[in-house]
Amino acid sequence: MRIAVVGSGYVGLVAGACFADLGHDVILVDNDQSKLAALRNGEVPIHEKFLPELISRHRGKRLNFSDDLKEAAKLSSAIFVAVGTPPTERGDADMSYVESVAREISGGVDDYKVVVEKSTVPVYTSGWVRKIILRNGADPDLFDVASNPEFLREGTAVTDFLFPDRIVIGCDTDRASAVLREIYAPLTSGTYYEGADAIPQLDNVSIPPALIVTSTKSAELIKHASNAFLAMKISFINAVASVCEAVGADVNQVVHGVGTDSRIGNRFLNPGIGYGGSCFPKDVMAFRAVAREHGYDFRLLDEVMRINEDQRQRFLRKIHNALWTLRGKRLGVLGLAFKGGTDDIRESPALFIVQELLREGCTIRAYDPAASKRAHEILNSSVTFANSPYEAAQGADALLILTEWEEFANLDLERLRQELRYQIVIDGRNLYDPEVMAAHGFTYYSVGRPACLPDGLPPGVLRHSKKA
Ligand code: UGA
Repeated sequence: MRIAVVGSGYVGLVAGACFADLGHDVILVDNDQSKLAALRNGEVPIHEKFLPELISRHRGKRLNFSDDLKEAAKLSSAIFVAVGTPPTERGDADMSYVESVAREISGGVDDYKVVVEKSTVPVYTSGWVRKIILRNGADPDLFDVASNPEFLREGTAVTDFLFPDRIVIGCDTDRASAVLREIYAPLTSGTYYEGADAIPQLDNVSIPPALIVTSTKSAELIKHASNAFLAMKISFINAVASVCEAVGADVNQVVHGVGTDSRIGNRFLNPGIGYGGSCFPKDVMAFRAVAREHGYDFRLLDEVMRINEDQRQRFLRKIHNALWTLRGKRLGVLGLAFKGGTDDIRESPALFIVQELLREGCTIRAYDPAASKRAHEILNSSVTFANSPYEAAQGADALLILTEWEEFANLDLERLRQELRYQIVIDGRNLYDPEVMAAHGFTYYSVGRPACLPDGLPPGVLRHSKKA
């Protein structure tokens, strides 16, 4: 099938490359000429596992790039809209990019097409998109608007796309649903997975994925409700972590005990310095706003956001408690991305903490396996960038772990100990076992677990302090 994907951000680029891998002919449309030129040259603008491989496999063959949306719409049976829906000052989503794309698509509707919302959009967007396309002269019988929300995570976006738990298609006509079913048939029938060059599976999900067919409104809500629920899970466990700190319990043990209940599940229950990124903060706010607009006061979501903000402040207080004064302190920082596996620093809690510490007069040397370049554009020369975790730790008064990169969980602790001026580690992602850290001579603070002092301290000094 010939497919147009509008917008070459995370979602559009990954979806376009994956549709090509499923055997479709894809035109990826963007109005940013420099981005298009880079893509045509084989450059991949984001750090995403398997994406360079897919783009080089299909570029110039089943994956082409264009700035002509009307023409791409004309040539395609399905047009996926994956442009940004950034937050406005009021907290709702700015739908102006979606609107202008809908206007342009209308000029290309000369035989039957499905216009598919792929971006995260508020409920009722499909109704508006239809209205805009009609207002601009398209024949009402020649198109449908559908919703096909994306659940991919940055860092594992390609495998999330190709090995999803479920594929949700929200359609109000059989004609539209038939087009979307055909597009995803290689996944839902399982034939994609039999191919010799299929991308390998990372997570242990069952294949083929479930196909869930709903109304367009329900599909729009499924996306907002899924992200809000996941954010709520994170805020919930962060609140539990705070209770653990107050009473001297261990949140990791609590998570194990709670998450083993299959009704709850243990995923997205990792406590830390709060969620960030381009999705959860924006989507929780937008869902809150859309509910309010339709007469429901979803105050639970306010609390989810409040706990998330508070979590960063609590971590800053933890640093104060560990180091007393901050002016002039030299800190090593591991992680600037909003999570491991990505170079994305949008709404990164790590970056927020670094900026606060700079304001307090700290000197910072930071290391991130992928996000240093992007962070440098924001932080300029206020931070020194290291080439390894050990270099970041060199001569530091303490080491902070702010992003859950896998490589930060496997450091050579002996080497780290030698690099640091004081053997203090403040871990915002609970990557280490406190007992192990103490045995290696570290004073170790983490989230929702008692702080640990090193082994071999004089008798009478408690190994565990009461509060982290
Ligand atoms: C999120 C959703 O997980 C995807 O399903 C969705 O498609 C995507 O948003 C989107 O709407 O486009 P993403 O933002 O890439 O994906 O990242 P997540 O892995 O969900 O992590 C979000 C934040 O939560 C990160 O800052 C991460 O560190 C934090 N987090 C995650 C925790 O603090 N604890 C956890 O247990 C899990």
